Amino acid sequence: MSKREEAINPSVKEVEIQREYIRKVGEINKGKGLKHHTVTYGCQMNAHDSEKIIGMLNEMGYSATESIEEADLIIYNTCCIRENAENRIYGNLGFIKGLKAKNKNLKVILCGCMMQQDAVIEKIKASYNVVDIIFGTYNLYRLPQLLHTNIESKSQIIDVWKEQRDIVEDLPQERKYKFKASVNIMYGCNNFCTYCIVPYVRGRERSREVADIIREVKNLVADGVKEITLLGQNVNSYGKTLEPEVTFAELLRMISDVSGLKRIRFMTSHPKDFSDELIEVIKERENICKSIHLPVQSGSSIILDKMNRFYDRDKYLELVEKLRAAVSDISITTDIIVGFPGETEEDNEATIDIIKKVRFSTAFTFIYSKRDGTEAARMEDQIEEQIAKHRFNKVVETLNPIIYELNKAHIGGVYGVLVESVSKNDENVLSGRLDDNSIVHFEGSKDLIGEIVDVKIVDCKTFYLKGELA
Ligand code: SAH
Ligand code: SF4
Ligand code: F3S
Repeated sequence: MSKREEAINPSVKEVEIQREYIRKVGEINKGKGLKHHTVTYGCQMNAHDSEKIIGMLNEMGYSATESIEEADLIIYNTCCIRENAENRIYGNLGFIKGLKAKNKNLKVILCGCMMQQDAVIEKIKASYNVVDIIFGTYNLYRLPQLLHTNIESKSQIIDVWKEQRDIVEDLPQERKYKFKASVNIMYGCNNFCTYCIVPYVRGRERSREVADIIREVKNLVADGVKEITLLGQNVNSYGKTLEPEVTFAELLRMISDVSGLKRIRFMTSHPKDFSDELIEVIKERENICKSIHLPVQSGSSIILDKMNRFYDRDKYLELVEKLRAAVSDISITTDIIVGFPGETEEDNEATIDIIKKVRFSTAFTFIYSKRDGTEAARMEDQIEEQIAKHRFNKVVETLNPIIYELNKAHIGGVYGVLVESVSKNDENVLSGRLDDNSIVHFEGSKDLIGEIVDVKIVDCKTFYLKGELA
């Protein structure tokens, strides 16, 4: 495939086809008051895909319900990053069998990363005839057509592609928040970290054209969005397949120039591709948040090499130093895997040591989960669960006091906070985020949702700050 073809060119024809199916299904469903119950697993990429799914469902006459019992259509947008994410789906399908016995018209749809695996499809075909429609990560825009075909034929429909054929944009999207939004800048991943299933289920790296991204950002800002999160598995390698090549730093500058956009976040940054140019842009632009998610995975160079991460412990620490030299109060968050094949006590100590050196603001810690088809699944010395759990606890016990101390350092300061929601437990308490992504709870009127307000931090817990309007 030529470089040019790897760039993403939206297919206008497909949009028209699907819009026609949206109209047809909408016609069939008219006046029936149908409801959908959509559940999303996995990362922000999947959450963003679900916004597209829900947007299409709304236009086809389904409104959302929290109650699975009330639903006429249930969708699970699945994840397969770890085994427990998959097990939950099978558990849910068992439960749905009962619901379907009561409601013959109930439709059950599975989509997302887990569906890209042949073994999963075989298992569902053999044991779960409650499922009406299955599609994968490359063709979610075809939902209207698949649903229409299923309504007409009443037979199980499985449509999973092995690669991307068309990129279809400009279909309806239901945004969860009015004031913040996610924007895909690229799809897929080429890194093949040895533990990871993502490159197998999301395909090769493809960058969207700059003009399409900027157009989407401008439209969102015109629609009241203040904060945008740019999404990609490895945003730092954005633009490598475009012609002419564009760097992520260049794209960030262009997005930062969009007038009215108050905050820009991005994830995920791979440490191996973090350029000096990018550090410069983060430093120079006020509307780029001073918060970086920089997954370290392990503090041991031996394990990092086996993980195929293309950096070692010293290189990671050097990068952290450079970031802090440029932006002294930058917050660094991370992902950590414990129990990777061959990991020794010494390797685990190296992870604990790097946590103490970097002082992460937050970390998502995972016990290594063996994923069929990945290189690490074939490695010897898979670690026993008990040992991995013990190491996991040691890591969390190291992290929590550091996170608490970093939170405590906010006390007395006044920070701009984007107000996001009302607390579930107390309607007078609001929840919002600082530029550095810390969560703060404070009293205030719900009219402030979507505004950026000044909040004085007065207290903290390990996972959030407490404040009052300044
Ligand atoms: N593209 C992102 C990560 C996406 S997956 C990046 O490279 O940083 C999110 C996190 O899940 C990873 O950072 C890793 O910590 C974790 N993860 C991925 N595969 C895993 C596995 N097989 N077992 C346990 N954790 C895993
Ligand atoms: Fe997985 Fe590595 Fe790609 Fe992240 S960069 S999605 S961890 S293969
Ligand atoms: Fe995300 Fe899970 Fe897929 S982490 S990319 S939803 S496997």
